[in-house]
Amino acid sequence: MKIKSIKQLKNLKGQKVLVRVDFNVPLTKDRKVGKSEDYRIVKTIPTIEFLVKKGAKVILMAHLGRPDGKIIEDLRLGPVARRLSQLLKKKVLKSREILGAETDKLIAGMKNGDVLLLENVRFDAREEKADKSFAKQLAGLADIFVNDGFAVSHRDQASVSTVQNYLPSYAGLLLEQEIFNLDKVLRKPKKPLTVIIGGAKISTKMKVIRNFLPVAKHILLGGALANTVLEVMGVSVGKSLVEPKMFAEVKKIKLTDNQMIVPVDGVMAANYESKTGRLGALGKIKDSEVILDIGPDTIKLYENIIAKSKMVVWNGPMGLIETPAFAKGTMAMIKFLAKGKGETIVGGGETVQMIRKMNLEKKFDFISTGGGAMLEFLEGKKLPGIIKLIK
Ligand code: 3PG
Repeated sequence: MKIKSIKQLKNLKGQKVLVRVDFNVPLTKDRKVGKSEDYRIVKTIPTIEFLVKKGAKVILMAHLGRPDGKIIEDLRLGPVARRLSQLLKKKVLKSREILGAETDKLIAGMKNGDVLLLENVRFDAREEKADKSFAKQLAGLADIFVNDGFAVSHRDQASVSTVQNYLPSYAGLLLEQEIFNLDKVLRKPKKPLTVIIGGAKISTKMKVIRNFLPVAKHILLGGALANTVLEVMGVSVGKSLVEPKMFAEVKKIKLTDNQMIVPVDGVMAANYESKTGRLGALGKIKDSEVILDIGPDTIKLYENIIAKSKMVVWNGPMGLIETPAFAKGTMAMIKFLAKGKGETIVGGGETVQMIRKMNLEKKFDFISTGGGAMLEFLEGKKLPGIIKLIK
């Protein structure tokens, strides 16, 4: 896939460049961007520095959370601007509004190479409606638009897609990297290819699973979504949550040919709030228990398959990783993948955070900043934020 890149832009000196980034990162209780949580910000630094070095005036647009078109004080982008400024080692101007007198004044005062972050674009209800008048107003702030927010590119929203109708538009360096790596998975996967799918709901991952069925040698399941498949196979999952509306679709997938593999053991606990659990084979779960992680036999089984794979694509944790006792399966997979020889492509916020906490980021070939966007890309969809940038 060839896309229009900012690298082809020659004369950026003094040009106002409006850049959509995805700074949707979790904040700590005291409203700071945590160290292992700033991945999305870190990954946009090359694009911002590229534009700064060329003497552009960089106007950043981002969202935080889902404020539903209202101003929510806790979702202001101040903490993000501070972290960005630390990472860039440079002052970042910050407007407390998206459009208006303050933004106009800040832009009018910008010197070449200055960076300005506008307020959370989702404070305006028109953003999520992909509203044309809002997009036009945003476009009116600049000369060029750059999309570097891969993680939000699956959303058809004013600052992501609609704005591209009103300005010459290009992909930033991060967006380009994401497209290059994920496109490779779709078009030229190294074989044997193993896909690991975890997380909460099979309904959100079914299309990806289906898209990989013709190419992947193995699809390994983990996380709560495996429960729905286990239930369909007739393996009791106790009182673990399942998605009954997905039973019929799951039944349509071939479950017997060793292509799709489900956990054989797990960590069971009394409920989702439990802090500890017990190891056990699946099939021996009590009716009153829930499954919260994969167990050692599953880990071994998955490791043996991964060891024989030339490429591994992974999205979604293997257990309820916010509770340390149920993060072991995910951590074991991270450790094993980190020392393996096959090409590794991973995405999804929680897994990426854990990889960074374990300081193993550099051991992976590519870590996507996208969660939902990565999934939709791998479903083979043309993402609204990217489609107009394809040459
Ligand atoms: C994400 O975190 O996946 C993106 O920022 C999109 O956020 P959304 O799911 O709230 O649209």
